[in-house]
Amino acid sequence: MANSNHIKNDLFLRALKGETVQRPPVWMMRQAGRYLPEFMAIKEEYDFFTRCQTPELASEITVQPIRRFGMDAAILFSDILVVPQAMNIEVQMKSNFGPYLPNPIRNQKDLDSVIIPDVNQELGYVMEAIKMTKEKLNNEIPLIGFAGSPWTILCYCVQGQGSKTFDKAKELCFTNPVVAHALLQKITDTTIAYLKAKVAAGVDAVQIFDSWGGMLSPTDYETFSWQYIQQIIDALKDNIPVIAFGKGCWFALHTMARSGASALGVDWTCSARNARYLSGGNITLQGNFDPARLLSPPAEIKKMVHQMINEFGKDKYIVNLGHGILPNIPLENAKAFVDAVKEYKSAF
Ligand code: CP3
Repeated sequence: MANSNHIKNDLFLRALKGETVQRPPVWMMRQAGRYLPEFMAIKEEYDFFTRCQTPELASEITVQPIRRFGMDAAILFSDILVVPQAMNIEVQMKSNFGPYLPNPIRNQKDLDSVIIPDVNQELGYVMEAIKMTKEKLNNEIPLIGFAGSPWTILCYCVQGQGSKTFDKAKELCFTNPVVAHALLQKITDTTIAYLKAKVAAGVDAVQIFDSWGGMLSPTDYETFSWQYIQQIIDALKDNIPVIAFGKGCWFALHTMARSGASALGVDWTCSARNARYLSGGNITLQGNFDPARLLSPPAEIKKMVHQMINEFGKDKYIVNLGHGILPNIPLENAKAFVDAVKEYKSAF
């Protein structure tokens, strides 16, 4: 992309291209969030969707962790659930509960009310937030845009809330696959238009979060999740680097590696060695520190991060957590994680 060529710290973009780097880049999933006091101050004053829908607030929250810790990439503050919201599905964010969708999609009649929106109109606030964030970042580091995978979005749309099993989401897939696939396709079409609009607004890479892909068997994963992610990658890959993150999806790394994605996210249940083996050894990998390991003392975090880089190798690698940062992580521990990467020397 035209913008990316001017970015001063291009470690992240070079790692996505598989180029040789001095050290790997680092960012943290959910890095803009509740472990930061400056985020909590904004949260006190504005509810969740106001923060998402106000470009001044969303861009401010996006750059907060960068100012404090100096990661090599920023990720836009938003949520994967703004997509179903734009598709005419009501989404609430309840405190101490999480997402709540009062009218879940359970049958054909429910599905008929789901629209494929004009993303520039319904989600224009996201595009404005991207433009404002790009100005604030001043081409120092790249900006990542994101979307949920169609399967992960379906999980919330059908279940109506978070779940340990997403049994109602699975029930729809297994008892009424026609409706499930029609919903997945509507989400896919919307997501493709949405991510293309994000690229036009200025993001430098996109990540697809398949947070609940690992809830499916390998066969059902192919049917209900992967084929839709592949459609998104096909539509985007010639314009922008795509990172595919599937939590618990180590079994699909072989397929994912041949998808045209620039990088694959892995969680901490898969060793670096296994992830390299399963993905064929040639594609950039991102991950995979156990988010709870950020509770270890800073000196131990640094040692473990250096070990993790040695295991993945410094090239074709993006240092990250294996899932989002937890709210109870001390600031100095998050700092130790980022600093450890910056202090990394291949001789370790
Ligand atoms: O990474 C970032 O810093 C950017 C912001 C971001 C948020 N959500 C902000 C948020 C991103 C990338 C997401 C993605 C997201 N949202 C995912 C995929 C990644 C993952 O963690 O698996 C999912 C599954 C969601 C859905 C969602 N949103 C849940 C389950 C919850 C409640 C639980 C939680 O994590 O807090 C949210 C709310 C949410 N999204 C918060 C934030 C900062 C916390 C609520 C608040 O700030 O009021």
